[in-house]
Amino acid sequence: MNNENQGKILKFPAAFLWGVSTSAYQIEGNVDNDWSNWEKSESRIKELKSKNLNPDDFICGRACDSYNRWEEDIGLVKNLNGGAYRFSAEWARIEPEQGRFDEAAIAHYGSMVKKLKELRIEPFLTLWHWTLPLWVRDIGGWENKDTSRHFLKYAEKLADSLGEDVRFWITLNEPQTYTGLSYVAGAFPPQIKSLFRANTVFKNLMQAHSAAYRMLKQKFKDKAQVGISHYVNYHTAYGNTLLNKALARLMDYLRWQRFIDSAEPCQDFIGFQYYHHDRVKFKPGGRFIIADNVNENSATNDMGWEIYPQGIYPLLKYLKRYNKPVYITENGTADADDDHRPRFINETLRHVQQAIREGVDVRGYFHWSLLDNFEWAHGWNPKFGLYEVDRRTFERKPRSSAGLYADICKNNGIMLE
Ligand code: GAL
Repeated sequence: MNNENQGKILKFPAAFLWGVSTSAYQIEGNVDNDWSNWEKSESRIKELKSKNLNPDDFICGRACDSYNRWEEDIGLVKNLNGGAYRFSAEWARIEPEQGRFDEAAIAHYGSMVKKLKELRIEPFLTLWHWTLPLWVRDIGGWENKDTSRHFLKYAEKLADSLGEDVRFWITLNEPQTYTGLSYVAGAFPPQIKSLFRANTVFKNLMQAHSAAYRMLKQKFKDKAQVGISHYVNYHTAYGNTLLNKALARLMDYLRWQRFIDSAEPCQDFIGFQYYHHDRVKFKPGGRFIIADNVNENSATNDMGWEIYPQGIYPLLKYLKRYNKPVYITENGTADADDDHRPRFINETLRHVQQAIREGVDVRGYFHWSLLDNFEWAHGWNPKFGLYEVDRRTFERKPRSSAGLYADICKNNGIMLE
């Protein structure tokens, strides 16, 4: 410990936004969409049983019941001294059938926005966080180019209903992760493995983004700040060989840089989500692998992901070239016992602060996540929440990290040790 620094606060810029991030499907409960149907399908259940997993742990079901408990959850954001809340609207609720908009569902999100404004919490609204209404699934999801057109109508409906109060719009959450997991790896519905089809999906997603961007800018000019939440991964070379170094740079390009480029010029800010550090290793035979956790000494989280908060710094430095504000719209770790999360948060933020000091225009940080939630194909096991959620009673209980994060938000900085 450095005595000179003890008790001092490493401050962030005065207008810095502190927040937390969630997504509709992962917390709301009782949604009827492509995911809820897929997770109950015979093939999915068979797949889980063949891996000796209990299918019940992979059904989202009532989730955290946040659709009913939203006021309590916004209260938790306030308890954390949060100045911003990133959440998503569920397309399947808002437009359960093509062209039929559910006014009660729109009013629900309207009430959330109003409540947030009343509490001086800035809403960051994500329009699409990976799930689709069944009628969109049935026309081929994002493989069908009409889906971009339908998405625009849905986005426009929300813009007309909520646009007076929402300044920050995130059209898409990690379009590249979705494309990769649903159309290349075959891990998410509709479990396709085809680079060709993945390419079509990605193109249609970007088409949807730019159309929604133009619509929002036309309606609200610069009052609306519009962007995408990008997945950004830190790659380093295994063994530091020249070949592995070159492959690491190639992976940067293939896995995230080109996607940020492809969103230009239709992004007012860069939404940035950091979770992973991968060491890239050439595999003889002409193939290469991305080797996770090849350093036996490195600590891992509950999902086996290497704990590597410092990776955020070089990534933020890279983003400087875009000359755009950056919002870290997700960052967090799965840690049921809250053993490493406090240090993870502090270390991450120390590196974010350094990047800011060196000229990167980072304007906000959103911790993933407010609550323990449904972690997609990993089901209910990973625990990302600042608040634990009892799966039976839905009681929310703060982990000790919640207290730490509330102090950070209040102090606009981290305590030096
Ligand atoms: C992100 C995703 C979130 C959450 C998080 C933690 O990629 O946007 O919904 O699942 O990962 O794994």
